[in-house]
Amino acid sequence: MEIDRRAFIAGLGGTTAVSLMGDEAKADALEEFMSARLNEAVAAPQAPSGGTFPSAADLQAQIETRPTRRGVGNLFAARTGNVKRLDPMPRAPRLVDFFTMRFNGTSNHCLQSATKALRSGMTEEVVLACLLHDVVQELIKVDHGWWGAQLFEPYVPERTTFAIRYHQALRFYADSENGYEYPDLYHRVFGRDYKPEPYIEQTYQTVRKHKLYGDARMVTVNDLYAFDPNAAPVSLEQFADIIGRHFRQPKQGLGYDNSPVAHMWRSIERPDAPL
Ligand SMILES: [Fe+2]
Ligand SMILES: [Fe+2]
Repeated sequence: MEIDRRAFIAGLGGTTAVSLMGDEAKADALEEFMSARLNEAVAAPQAPSGGTFPSAADLQAQIETRPTRRGVGNLFAARTGNVKRLDPMPRAPRLVDFFTMRFNGTSNHCLQSATKALRSGMTEEVVLACLLHDVVQELIKVDHGWWGAQLFEPYVPERTTFAIRYHQALRFYADSENGYEYPDLYHRVFGRDYKPEPYIEQTYQTVRKHKLYGDARMVTVNDLYAFDPNAAPVSLEQFADIIGRHFRQPKQGLGYDNSPVAHMWRSIERPDAPL
């Protein structure tokens, strides 16, 4: 398929906006762009008239064209071909082990977001929230803000949990005072006429009046919606001190500390367990 590179980058917000995207996110964006073009070609009557973005109805119509649902976690469905065998994790696994061995579909994006937050002088709690904000999508994508907050709640400060939980709802609402515009990418992912569900709207209305609103908003501001083909890879190492200060690593290992979320960590560690 021929790619209109200018249209692709412009559709993602231009080269400046895309300057911090990781390799995985680049690949995802390209794949989404290509599959959108493909869908337009295949389903010509449903293609948006004169626009590059699908409608919410177009996306609904695609549901029965796929073997998996869009909300399934990265570890549970291959993008192309079959899933791969996973290396066993060390005993008493730590956050860094999950980053290197299980969060491979989301870690670049999160590392880039956290780097942007660090460089723009965010608090350590917000930098940590940016670092963790999407990794639960390895387990499940639907309602990932809530799932992600739950996964980390026993181990991180309240501000970090709050920011992870509510970035999902806030991302649909512009806040130009804080430098957040609705991302063009969402026209492609959710449909050009997408209206957030009532529970998202209600959450937004509540959270915008909350004293920790700014923390959750800063996750959306430092989120990345586009890519730069030349962005340098980022390592977790530069966040070691922030993780050390704000992430309460259980000595038995994540998944084995008998916490209310231990099973979630085990499911990420062992997605091939049948029951
Ligand atoms: Fe997110
Ligand atoms: Fe994100």
